Amino acid sequence: MPSVLIIGASRGIGLGLVERHLADGWEVHATTRDASPPGRHSEVETLQLDVTDSAELDTMIASIDRPFDRIIHNAGIMRGTRDRIMEVNADAPIRVVQTLLDAGLLAQDGIIALMTSQLGARRGRTGSLGDYGDSKAALNDEFRRRTERWREAGAIAIVIHPGWVRTDMGGSGASISVKESADGITRLLDGLDAGRHGEFLTWDGRRHPW
Ligand SMILES: NC(=O)c1ccc[n+]([C@@H]2O[C@H](COP(=O)([O-])OP(=O)(O)OC[C@H]3O[C@@H](n4cnc5c(N)ncnc54)[C@H](OP(=O)(O)O)[C@@H]3O)[C@@H](O)[C@H]2O)c1
Repeated sequence: MPSVLIIGASRGIGLGLVERHLADGWEVHATTRDASPPGRHSEVETLQLDVTDSAELDTMIASIDRPFDRIIHNAGIMRGTRDRIMEVNADAPIRVVQTLLDAGLLAQDGIIALMTSQLGARRGRTGSLGDYGDSKAALNDEFRRRTERWREAGAIAIVIHPGWVRTDMGGSGASISVKESADGITRLLDGLDAGRHGEFLTWDGRRHPW
């Protein structure tokens, strides 16, 4: 049974990804900040993690005994101080994934997917994209800097725009449901090969401009 670690799974797209992978027969490991199972799915191996807490990350890693086939870093915020948005959206995903890789917790040719946003696409612009957009742009920049290193570590890694999704963050007027987004992302990851390593893709499989 293939295994997936979904980071930031208490609600929204992360919970949708948990449910899609359970339905597809995966062994699902997921993190929440209070260690309660996502959506009360008690069959999920739930781990406690605030992605900005390095000590918690170390404790979590010490409790994991074999590598995952797929790691999805989904946790993110839109509101808060600029520093906090940067810490959660830009710094944490890179640090968490790098620490997992360094600990040997991704299987050879395993997949890493980081949740970014179309709002972080600079498309050649040099000004601010707002705090949230700047945080996702910074995530994309650091991801691109690490592409070679992560390839050498045996990963197939991408950043994903999940669509404009009806969640607490996306709001009720957003264009797609959590299920549509999670199904699309999962289909995309199921078909991903090494040739797509380093790309910025959308939930429905299109290439997104940086
Ligand atoms: N919704 C959209 O339209 C949209 C569009 C583009 C990109 N995205 C990105 O997609 C991802 C998921 O978005 P969403 O709409 O599902 O958001 P959401 O409904 O607001 O859920 C955010 C998730 O991130 C977790 N989280 C936040 N801060 C965390 C931290 N410090 N440590 C661990 N977990 C933390 C939350 O956990 P708690 O329940 O503990 O707060 C929750 O599980 C985010 O990265 C977001 O930026 C979303």
